[in-house]
Amino acid sequence: MTYNLLKGKKGIIFGALDNKSIAWKIAAKAHEEGAVFTLSNTPVALRFGEINELAEQCNALVIPADATSVKDLENVFIKSMEVLGGKVDFVLHSIGMSMNVRKQRDYDDLDYDYFQKTIDISALSFHKMLQVAKKLDAITEWGSVLALSYIAAQRTLVGYNDMADAKAILESIARSFGYIYGREKHIRINTISQSPTRTTAGSGIKGIDGLLDFTDRMSPLGNATADECADFSIVLFSDLSKKVTMQNIYHDGGFSSMAMSQKAMTQYNKSLDDPDNL
Ligand SMILES: NC(=O)c1ccc[n+]([C@@H]2O[C@H](COP(=O)([O-])OP(=O)(O)OC[C@H]3O[C@@H](n4cnc5c(N)ncnc54)[C@H](O)[C@@H]3O)[C@@H](O)[C@H]2O)c1
Repeated sequence: MTYNLLKGKKGIIFGALDNKSIAWKIAAKAHEEGAVFTLSNTPVALRFGEINELAEQCNALVIPADATSVKDLENVFIKSMEVLGGKVDFVLHSIGMSMNVRKQRDYDDLDYDYFQKTIDISALSFHKMLQVAKKLDAITEWGSVLALSYIAAQRTLVGYNDMADAKAILESIARSFGYIYGREKHIRINTISQSPTRTTAGSGIKGIDGLLDFTDRMSPLGNATADECADFSIVLFSDLSKKVTMQNIYHDGGFSSMAMSQKAMTQYNKSLDDPDNL
């Protein structure tokens, strides 16, 4: 079912790699809901990912950019305004990467060059995006900017590693810039804290299968899927959420408010019957 919620709206979507990506689902939904937009990802992702297929499906131009480069980001905003015919109404930051996670470095044995890269790619890129867009006056009044986060920003989670620190910074940037953008331009900035989701980035988390099972058992509504995240993102890009800003909104089936559920307790108790677990 489509509602034309984004009819007449223009946007930029960063971070669609393949058809599992959360950004891919959001782009497909935004297209269905009447938006026009450009897509951006790194040159490497453009070579190895499947973004051209999405671009064709959505009739969108792909603009390569490393989101850690201010110059690349300027180019994305300038080119997007050119091809879309004016300022954009929405921007999606769906970018995350940690070499420490990829190389399975433990949190008490981090490589600091990797750590800086994690922060630069997964958090500072959001600041750079917002600063570039502001200097170029690239976002329309009452526009909406969204970034994707994870509950490891608030709660410690084995295996999420330095990405937890990056997400905490990301959410803080949304609040700090949300104040400035709100005050000066009536533009809202929020983060969605999404359930664990089986994507390329998600699969990098150590023990993702057990995590997905655990969070599903813990969440009264079950894990939120990437498609459901796309639905929610469309609402946040639409005019139906005009006064929501500077929020980190949990989209997780209720997980963030739970401490123990019947389903998780049952499974936990079963594991106690196994003498190897004692
Ligand atoms: N999958 C999950 O479990 C989950 C849960 C909560 C939040 N998130 C967040 O959702 C967002 C999207 O991740 P996803 O799960 O769809 O995985 P994904 O791997 O499909 O997307 C990550 C994207 O980041 C891009 N990227 C990496 N380095 C970049 C750089 N330097 N410049 C520009 N782009 C770069 C990748 O090319 C890729 O498109 C991330 O911020 C992630 O942390 C994911």
